[in-house]
Amino acid sequence: MAARIDQDVKRSDRFAFANTLYAAQGMISAGFFNSKIALLDFGCGQFFFSKHLKAFCNKIHGFDPYYEFKNCENDASLSCEISFFSAKENLPKKTYDLIVLNSVLQYFNDASEVKSFLESASFCLKEEKGKILIIDVMTPDYNLGLDLFWWLVFAIQKRVLFSLLRDLWMTAVVTQTHKKIFKIELTELEELALNLGFHFKKMSRNCGPSRERYTILLEKI
Ligand SMILES: C[S@@+](CC[C@H](N)C(=O)[O-])C[C@H]1O[C@@H](n2cnc3c(N)ncnc32)[C@H](O)[C@@H]1O
Repeated sequence: MAARIDQDVKRSDRFAFANTLYAAQGMISAGFFNSKIALLDFGCGQFFFSKHLKAFCNKIHGFDPYYEFKNCENDASLSCEISFFSAKENLPKKTYDLIVLNSVLQYFNDASEVKSFLESASFCLKEEKGKILIIDVMTPDYNLGLDLFWWLVFAIQKRVLFSLLRDLWMTAVVTQTHKKIFKIELTELEELALNLGFHFKKMSRNCGPSRERYTILLEKI
């Protein structure tokens, strides 16, 4: 794996993970795709995020309990199988090299849901070297107002206003359904992960001057 991942709490490009395209590019440049892998996009919504990774995967399976996704286009030219699941029980076992959650953890109800997610993830990952990448773990310092402000600055700077609007719409729809943002201390997440046999690594701090949002990599020990 590329050396970049081994750096602790790397101050990434401030907004590298504030947008699905940048998040996907961050994964590519961090060296996640040395060969084609089987990816589970947990909380995939409309696959906005993992569609950027099609060329690097032989399988992209999406799971979302709240979103009805009907139109899975299988991309023959890239030989990437795309499927959607709405029931966790239907996810295949021992299949994935990597499970990614992009802007999903904050919609969990509480820490017990994180624990049950890690338990199911353990079954779905291949036995060796399975990884979980959680993009946007929000800690109790996370401040939505400040975040929206920097999001807007970023969108103007990078000329990605359209995707900002789409992200805002998505956030509004999901927040409407979930009513609150779940925040978790990294120490608590680390303890849950260690108890279930995962090694915990901070990959980057994604936003803001204080410790607000992080990307966390969990690797099967
Ligand atoms: C902000 S959207 C992100 C969608 C997608 N990951 C992306 O990057 O475009 C959050 C998604 O998490 C899903 N979600 C919410 N609670 C969830 C849960 N407990 N388990 C799995 N997915 C969940 C929502 O249905 C929604 O599609």
